[in-house]
Amino acid sequence: MANSPSGDSVTDRVVRVLETFGPDRTVQTAAQIGRRAALPSSTAHRLVAELVEAGLLERDDDHRVRLGMRLWELALRGSEALRLRQAALPYMERVQARVGEHTQLAVLEQDEALFLERLSSPSSGANITRIAGRLPLHASSSGLVLLAHAPTELQDGILSKPLARLSPETITDAAVLRRTLAEVRRSGWVIAPGSIEAVSTGVAVPVRDRGEVVAALSVVLPRDAPTAEPLEALRAAAAGIQAALAADRR
Ligand code: PHB
Repeated sequence: MANSPSGDSVTDRVVRVLETFGPDRTVQTAAQIGRRAALPSSTAHRLVAELVEAGLLERDDDHRVRLGMRLWELALRGSEALRLRQAALPYMERVQARVGEHTQLAVLEQDEALFLERLSSPSSGANITRIAGRLPLHASSSGLVLLAHAPTELQDGILSKPLARLSPETITDAAVLRRTLAEVRRSGWVIAPGSIEAVSTGVAVPVRDRGEVVAALSVVLPRDAPTAEPLEALRAAAAGIQAALAADRR
């Protein structure tokens, strides 16, 4: 890739442009993108125009841009995330029908839990999770399951830095977190009351593919709701998803 005078490649700059979009910043002008990606204005306008031309960005009537459907289409094509989501959906629907609360599927992405799917009903309680959104590993039930089965270097990295307190009950003590992770590995589930918001309890279990934990399946319940039946529903669903993933490989 040709490098700019500052030494960064075209790919670097395109990635910087795409990364200016976030869950809370979905529509921007080319000038805003340029500032946030630290690009000269002319470069930003040219790159945005080229990305719009290629369909990776889309422009609205006000000349502002958002991530394009083409990007979504290419990203999902053949992806492991799509395969996992497709295998999981029928079982997630069962959990949702039985428990009536938010049911969600997350994978480990860098050092956070990335949510691939969330099913909710109009009567479901509070939930801050968004599809294609992320939650911290130490402060959500899905995150705790994913962290418990993550590579040791990732665990050590998280445990060696201050653990942000997102609610009064977030685990912020490294020794407590280490013990919790060991317990999650031993029991095969976690119940996390108030770990990210005081009004909810997350319950999560691992989903395995060829023996490896590839996802966490969770429900978000009102804080004091019973957890036994949701946990049973999650465990049955995880077994179903694992069988579906294995069948898909044959
Ligand atoms: C959790 O997984 O623990 C969790 C996630 C989202 C919430 C509450 C709890 O809003």
